[in-house]
This record gives sequence, structure tokens and C-alpha cells, in this order.
Amino acid sequence: MAAPTLRLSSRLALVTGGGSGIGRAVCQRFAKDGASVAVVDIDEGAATETLRSLSSDQQQHSVFITDVTSSKSVHKLVADIQMQFSRPPCVAVNCAGITVDGLLLKMQEEAFDQVLKVNLKGTFLVTQTVAKALVASGAKKGSIINVGSIVGKVGNVGQANYTASKAGVVALTKSSAKELARFGIRCNTILPGFIDTPMVAKVPQKVLDTVRSGRRLFLLGIGRQQLHHGSQSGSDRRAFHVTFKQSTGSRENK
Ligand code: CAA
Repeated sequence: MAAPTLRLSSRLALVTGGGSGIGRAVCQRFAKDGASVAVVDIDEGAATETLRSLSSDQQQHSVFITDVTSSKSVHKLVADIQMQFSRPPCVAVNCAGITVDGLLLKMQEEAFDQVLKVNLKGTFLVTQTVAKALVASGAKKGSIINVGSIVGKVGNVGQANYTASKAGVVALTKSSAKELARFGIRCNTILPGFIDTPMVAKVPQKVLDTVRSGRRLFLLGIGRQQLHHGSQSGSDRRAFHVTFKQSTGSRENK
């Protein structure tokens, strides 16, 4: 009996921030579901580690070292992918993101610029470059998935820069969805909460304790009934998993 066709077989997916956290988990899941994965990260060692962890049947995976804040680097990325796979990626997941936390009254201008550049401009550059390649290829389909954050919707103490960037990602995605629907390209944002990743591991223990207790979520304006408890592993640092899907023009994209 022939093996069942996997959900994403014959798809080519580009995942930025593929070297760690949510980006790495996305690469692993996509590979498991049959996609070929372009693991994109600025950190070669981390991206290579992800590559080694990917399951592979027929599909091919590859690492691309890219600075998402540079249009030159992003253009090279998409050109290199097309050269290697003979087609543009039909799925792009924008996971590359950083935090430089600090209270508003103390925040340095550089900390604001740096976070906006990676999280918002990086998402714009990858979205634009992949969309151009898809339109030029005449594929008439594609999917761009941007990683926002629940704190971009409700705000968070110490994250004026990060929350502004993530709110910007939602607006960018909505506009992209409206413009790209005519080319069959869907654009959506997901809004994760505090997920057990290296990014959250940097949060001071006292803040994590309040997140875990639910008090922080109350401050964030999130009801307990909206939570998925993610502490089955017993991991000490594992916080609540709160994930919302922000609908961004999916109706236009049908
Ligand atoms: N409102 C206003 N001020 C507050 C406050 C609040 N809710 N909570 C605390 N403060 C005040 C404190 O009272 C204290 O005031 P005083 O100096 O007058 O005593 C002041 O803030 C300083 O507190 P800290 O000692 O904690 O200050 P710090 O400068 O060492 O650190 C911080 C501040 C960088 C914000 C630190 O607390 C921190 O890293 N917090 C975590 C931020 C966070 O939640 N990050 C999430 C990262 S994960 C992620 O982003 C993924 C995602 O999508 C969710």
C-alpha cells in the first residue's frame, strides 16, 4: 500500500528565525508534514542545528544565513532559494524577532530602533520580496504567516518597543492581505503569548512567576478561560501558552 500523502508534501516553506524557539518548532513541524524547508537565520550554528533536527523523506531542506533587516540580504535569500529549488517558496513564516526590554522612561533610542528594525521592517522585507517572487512566477497561490504577539494587542510593562513592533506586524499583515488577495496569496498573523522559548527564558524570574500565577495575564487583560495550560512537562520555566489567531483579511483571501 502506498504511503499516505503528507499534508504539506511538495510545498516549499521559508521560515525566518528558524534557528530557535517558535521558528525552529515551525521548521520541525513543517518538515514532519512533508514540506521542504528553507531554515533562515542570522546565526549559522543555530540554523544548522535546526536543519539537523528535521525529518526528511523525499524532501530537501537547506540553511540560509540572512539578516532580515537588510534588503540586500533578503533579496539574495529569495534569489538563492529560487536557484536551489527552482521555484519561490509558497509559504513564508516570519518568526525572526528580538526583545530589548526596558521601561519606557529609561528606554534608549537604539533599543527602540533595533527592535522595530528586526521585528517590523524584517517582516516587511521578507513579505514584499517573497510576494514579488510569487507574483512573478504566476503561481496564483501562497501563504505568508507573520508572528505577532498577544502583548502587541494589549501592551506590556517594559516592552514599549516590542509591543509597538508587534502591533505594526498586525497592521502590515492586514494591508498585505488586502493587496495580495488578488494574486491568491493569503496573509495571516498569529499572536502567541508567553511560550517556553529562549526569548522568554530571559524574562526575570519574578515576572515569570506572575505570568504563571495568572496575575500578569490579568494585567494583560487576558481572561483565564482563554488559556491553554502548557505545563504538562513539569518544566520549571514553562509558562502558560496563550495563542490567538488574528484574522487578517482571510475573507479577502478566499
Ligand atoms: N508599571 C509601572 N512601573 C512598574 C510596573 C508597572 N506595572 N511594574 C514594575 N514597575 C516599576 C517598579 O516598581 C520599579 O520602580 P522603582 O524603580 O521606582 O522601584 C521599576 O519598575 C523598576 O523595576 P525593575 O527593577 O524590574 O527594573 P529593571 O529596569 O531592572 O527591569 C524590565 C525592568 C526590563 C521591564 C524587567 O522588569 C523585565 O525584563 N520585565 C519583563 C518584560 C517582559 O514581560 N518581557 C516579555 C519577554 S517574552 C516576549 O516578549 C514574548 C512575547 O511575545 C510575549
